[in-house]
Amino acid sequence: MSRTVSRGRRLGLRPADEVAPGQAATAGAGHGQYPRVRPRRNRADPWVRALVAENRLAVEDLIWPVFVQQGGRAREAVPSMPGVERLSIAALVDAVGAAGELGIPAVALFPVVPPALKSAAADEAWNPDNLCNRAARALKAAVPGVGVICDVALDPYTSHGHDGLLRDGRILNDETVEVLCRQALAQAAAGVDVIAPSDMMDGRVGRLREALDGAGRQDVRVLAYAAKYASAFYGPFRDAVGSKAALGRADKRSYQMDPANGDEALRECALDIAEGADMIMVKPGMPYLDVLRRVKDAFAMPTFVYQVSGEYAMLRAAAERGWLDGEAATMESLLGFKRAGADAILTYAAVEAARRLKAG
Ligand code: PBG
Repeated sequence: MSRTVSRGRRLGLRPADEVAPGQAATAGAGHGQYPRVRPRRNRADPWVRALVAENRLAVEDLIWPVFVQQGGRAREAVPSMPGVERLSIAALVDAVGAAGELGIPAVALFPVVPPALKSAAADEAWNPDNLCNRAARALKAAVPGVGVICDVALDPYTSHGHDGLLRDGRILNDETVEVLCRQALAQAAAGVDVIAPSDMMDGRVGRLREALDGAGRQDVRVLAYAAKYASAFYGPFRDAVGSKAALGRADKRSYQMDPANGDEALRECALDIAEGADMIMVKPGMPYLDVLRRVKDAFAMPTFVYQVSGEYAMLRAAAERGWLDGEAATMESLLGFKRAGADAILTYAAVEAARRLKAG
């Protein structure tokens, strides 16, 4: 039997509509059925469009990444991310409280670490009272109902801006994982609900799970940045946290994935799931929708996607110039993630999207 006919059956076409063997491949799939079949009938009115919609974006799908800074001003704009601000802990608590009121389930917390606290060994990463942990404690005390997610990676804390320890120009895997475990334990002690290894070292999910369990923290979840690509779209984020200057001209291609690869994303996800990840993530988002779909189909795991800083910056920049309807394009990009299989979406536009969804 031809592929066309079996595809026709899968699409729900009745046998009477099927084409005879040997007939044109496209005939059974639609064209030949006009004028009886008119797909536009299901698009003609808002109520029928609502009934046949396959995917919906809800505020419950959104995770808001936030930047926290110490000292100085309560709020400081990030020039390459219009609308995004670095916040003091007090301002962060207010902002996250407001996000919680809107129904946003969780935030992802990123510290802006002063250069004086960065070092080759990233010791500040596992300081129980570092900025990230102080902010997490403040959030869990003031807004306990909002989930707090924290990156596990060394780049905010290393003087060279890499996610791992560096020796002779190479990133050390196993030594880095040891430090990541210390970092995660300090985060767990600060009340972080979800640790999110974003470092892409081999074997880190398993070691982090063991370390948490060994400390009696079976309750802390692991969201693995499982398919994280070495992307040019992280530039504005590195501006925001101040790791760009530290990194200089170096790149992260010896640990983050090659944008050329899709099968490798499935292998990375399989490993992280086997090592105990509770949720997996694909990052960036818009240029990797194919990866998102493949990962969701292959593993049926809670699958998150990160609409990263560069994607946000593109949307905002075009909107500022009047080249795009920023709100419409943003909402479309988020719905596209749902269609591609995302269960939750990290986006800097979470608050504006939540307001938009609430307005109906
Ligand atoms: C750090 C980290 C990065 C992002 C999230 N965690 C940057 C990087 O890997 O260089 C990027 C987020 C964004 O661009 O919005 N490991």
